[in-house]
Amino acid sequence: MSDLAGKHIVLGLSGGVACYKAAEFCRGLIKAGATVQVVMTEAAEHFITPVTMQALSGRPVYSSQWDAREGNNMPHINLSREADAIVIAPASADFMAKLLHGRADDLLSLLCLARPIERVPLILSPAMNREMYAHPATQRNLAQLRADGAVVLGVGAGEQACGETGDGRMLEPDELLQELIAHFQPKRLAGRHVLITAGPTYEAIDPVRGITNRSSGKMGFALARAAREAGAQVTLVAGPVALPTPRGVQRVDVASALDMQRAVQASADAVDVFIAAAAVADWRPASAAERKIKKDGSGDVPALAFVENPDILAGVAASPRAQQGALFCVGFAAESHDLLAHAQAKRERKGVPLLVGNIGPDTFGQDHNALLLVDASGSTELPRADKLSLARALVTEIARRLPR
Ligand code: C5P
Repeated sequence: MSDLAGKHIVLGLSGGVACYKAAEFCRGLIKAGATVQVVMTEAAEHFITPVTMQALSGRPVYSSQWDAREGNNMPHINLSREADAIVIAPASADFMAKLLHGRADDLLSLLCLARPIERVPLILSPAMNREMYAHPATQRNLAQLRADGAVVLGVGAGEQACGETGDGRMLEPDELLQELIAHFQPKRLAGRHVLITAGPTYEAIDPVRGITNRSSGKMGFALARAAREAGAQVTLVAGPVALPTPRGVQRVDVASALDMQRAVQASADAVDVFIAAAAVADWRPASAAERKIKKDGSGDVPALAFVENPDILAGVAASPRAQQGALFCVGFAAESHDLLAHAQAKRERKGVPLLVGNIGPDTFGQDHNALLLVDASGSTELPRADKLSLARALVTEIARRLPR
């Protein structure tokens, strides 16, 4: 993963127990290809040592505005101008109150104030006790910091180091990393609402058995993440899969094709894009037994009757909004051979402007894939890559085709 290759991040730590998470976040930044300059306040050094942060970032930590290592003795100018972003994690209540007033009596607050405001984003990840977080003074400060151009991230809820439970925990290192990576992605879908189906469906035979399709859901989940990174509001209708929900994505869990169809229909009228990445079962048992069908030892097998599931994608694509061009529909085709011919035929059959073909057995359950995009004017290949990179490329292709 090199999502932050070429990016230089100033990682600022103010005082708080969550400093321990900043160490792992720093490691995540380096793994993602960034270079990291750590700056700590005196309070932060009570919680974690500069030795740890130097070892993880590979650079000596700065903490004093009088640091004579800088030739011009102006670390606040030099560090803030080198940065592609300044991330304060943890951002304590006191430190944010200080920023709000434009005070600058230590290196970290000084370089935040000195940053070129148009070019260097300031991203704050608050961390504090729940009462401190809920206090009107803190909430007022957060609102004002946003108005002054800072990006204020949310907080986690749950058990706190103080023993209380509520809002105010700092985001986990991986969540922070996802936020920062998203921050650098172009906002090609800003203002758009995207609906995505992902994963298999599960069609019950009885309470303990069912039929399903092979699908890990990874491609659909990567698309949800990529669309969110591109600034869209994202609703993800997921069949039974064991994948974490991408940050900022609204997830609706379903089991059967009929459940999935209901969930899709509940949102379809409000969205600009529908991407059907789910592997929907073509048939379901005509009726699911209420009790487990018992094996009676006679050797007889139950006679199962199947009925066809509705085609969710074709149904949405036939809706008036899709026909008028207000709703852009994208289908997927998992084939084993003759990808182009099958994808072209499927595009026409489903009535969608864009169909994405892939060779199923080459990608099932894997982190990589290759895609063939088929539209009215021809086909384009997206060569083999990790699913998130492909998802970002596909989001770019979709954004290009949307009405302005
Ligand atoms: O017909 P087939 O399953 O090959 O088509 C695949 C495409 O149609 C995928 O985009 C899939 O999500 C969608 N689909 C659907 N409802 C079905 C079957 C497929 O939305 N019942």
